[in-house]
Amino acid sequence: MGVNNRPRVFVTRLIPEAGLRIILDHCEAEVWEAPLPPPREVLLEKVAGCDGILSLLTEQVNAELMDAAGAQLKVISNFAVGFNNIDVDEATRRRIRVGNTPGVLTEATADMAFALLISASRRIVEAQEYVRGGHWKTWEPLGHIGQDLVGKTLGIVGMGRIGHALARRCHGGWGMRILYVDKFRNQVAEEECHAQQVEWDTLLSESDFVSVHVDLNPETQGMFDRDAFAKMKSTAVFVNSARGPIHRQQDLYEALVGGEIFAAGLDVTDPEPVDFKDPLVQLPNCVIAPHIASGTVSSRNGMAEIAADNLLAGIQQQPLRCWVNPM
Ligand code: GLV
Repeated sequence: MGVNNRPRVFVTRLIPEAGLRIILDHCEAEVWEAPLPPPREVLLEKVAGCDGILSLLTEQVNAELMDAAGAQLKVISNFAVGFNNIDVDEATRRRIRVGNTPGVLTEATADMAFALLISASRRIVEAQEYVRGGHWKTWEPLGHIGQDLVGKTLGIVGMGRIGHALARRCHGGWGMRILYVDKFRNQVAEEECHAQQVEWDTLLSESDFVSVHVDLNPETQGMFDRDAFAKMKSTAVFVNSARGPIHRQQDLYEALVGGEIFAAGLDVTDPEPVDFKDPLVQLPNCVIAPHIASGTVSSRNGMAEIAADNLLAGIQQQPLRCWVNPM
């Protein structure tokens, strides 16, 4: 506890006012206001004595950080739906609650996946660079030819909330056939979008577009490797708006250069940020955004509110609104 017995918290970056206000009203909060994350040694100092930490996906929340915080740490509230940056088992062992922010970013993320899919398929970014570079001299019957979308097959890897939201868009709007792989069956998606659960190899070989919506864990890490890209159509477009390490970036680069697949749209890279001199960044058939899928007003406000609620509930040792490790 801090002064006036208000709980002490460290907020690792400025978040939208919708959540920050709630935190400042109830806690003795220190907020890291710099645009870049706190350096590790500073973070370890800042969390000392805190009852709660509001973290971002840029912070590695592991035993070292929990030790640095001390035994009074009750909650880690991640400002993200993904929580691969947190050692959840370690937190659970210490009875530290972990929260995340699902739901509010589903539609924005599905929109981003679709934006990447259509940008990469229709070569929008490459075309923009062509215009900006002063190369547009005439209408070209053979120029900038991309891939059609209507009636094609979309393979969704991970038919959870976001995968399902993308399936809805593509089935309803573009009449696509939807295939998916998942550990679980999603009967609602099957009914709404006529989605078909298939084997991994079938999804790779039959899909015109493959979009990733699984979380990053030891099973999904590197699942898109040389072998996977080799099984895809040479006209296929690969989209990853989940986590960078799900694809092997060198293998993706080689697949794009070698014509194993047509194009890729990435909102996530490995590492993040990707070096702007990385050859992948320079490829005309790879569209890369800087991990902005949840970047809409309502999504980020919703994430801030949930993260603040999770933080306060955890400090009071109550159930969290979005609780990763219920105990
Ligand atoms: C963003 O990537 C998130 O997990 O919310």
